[in-house]
Amino acid sequence: MGNSYVVAVANQKGGVGKTTTAINLATSIAYLGHKVLLVDCDPQANASSGLGVRLPSGDRSFMSFLIEQSTLPPLFQPLKNLPMWLLPSHPDLASLEWSLPELNDRENLLSKRIRLLRKRSKFVIIDCPPSLGFLTVNALVSADAVLIPIQCEYYALEGLSLLLDTVRKIRLRWNPDLGIDGVVFTMFDRRNNLSHQVVSEIRQHAPFYTYQTMIPRNVRLSEAPSHGLPVLFYDPRSSGAKAYMELAKEFLGRSLRRNNGEKKGSGSLH
Ligand SMILES: Nc1ncnc2c1ncn2[C@@H]1O[C@H](COP(=O)(O)OP(=O)(O)OP(=O)(O)O)[C@@H](O)[C@H]1O
Ligand SMILES: [Mg+2]
Repeated sequence: MGNSYVVAVANQKGGVGKTTTAINLATSIAYLGHKVLLVDCDPQANASSGLGVRLPSGDRSFMSFLIEQSTLPPLFQPLKNLPMWLLPSHPDLASLEWSLPELNDRENLLSKRIRLLRKRSKFVIIDCPPSLGFLTVNALVSADAVLIPIQCEYYALEGLSLLLDTVRKIRLRWNPDLGIDGVVFTMFDRRNNLSHQVVSEIRQHAPFYTYQTMIPRNVRLSEAPSHGLPVLFYDPRSSGAKAYMELAKEFLGRSLRRNNGEKKGSGSLH
């Protein structure tokens, strides 16, 4: 597989910061000089619109790549001068699961083509939809690892167990090498006791990496997508922009160590 690293950003819980993390981690990695390909695998297409890309039809989208093309469609480069490319999504992607009911091996559609993506850049970041359905499974079957954003709130642990069950099943059936890159705490509010409790509980129990960098709740992060910009370009001095830059440094530091053989997360809470 060369030394590309494919990471699926996943959590079946909605609104936990998957897309915000995918966009802003990818941008910061690119800003630090590494080639990144961001793949929008969600029919909501938030990672695409958040970078100012709205497709009129499914052409050039992740969907056409998944079902039709044997070559990669022309990719978007949303920010000139940054080595970040986007394979955008389109709402039509939602109907794909239902239009392919007869297809054997539906879970392997993406994995059969992932080599084309790996060739394009060192890091491939896949933004998954909020479910553990067909699209997320395709992403996990194709990825080297899953990155799990966790919102610091009461039900976070329950959601994590469900995702880890899925990771175990994917390993058994399709992708024995699927690792857990780590957990990223999002929308952290340091004045809120619950935020601290959730973080310390997960740090205590998780037998896999939890990022030291925590993403604070920051209004600039929620405003940036409506301007079609990553936060680094919308407001580089905001706490959100600084946090995602720190996260990218931590991610890249680990990636270098990973190449030197750091072990994978076990995928169990106990
Ligand atoms: N750290 C943050 N501070 C403030 N707002 C945030 C932060 N992270 C995400 N948000 C906002 O919270 C909402 C949900 O975030 P996001 O879209 O990244 O989550 P998601 O997990 O991708 O959602 P979905 O499950 O629908 O795909 C968005 O409006 C986003 O702008
Ligand atoms: Mg999303």
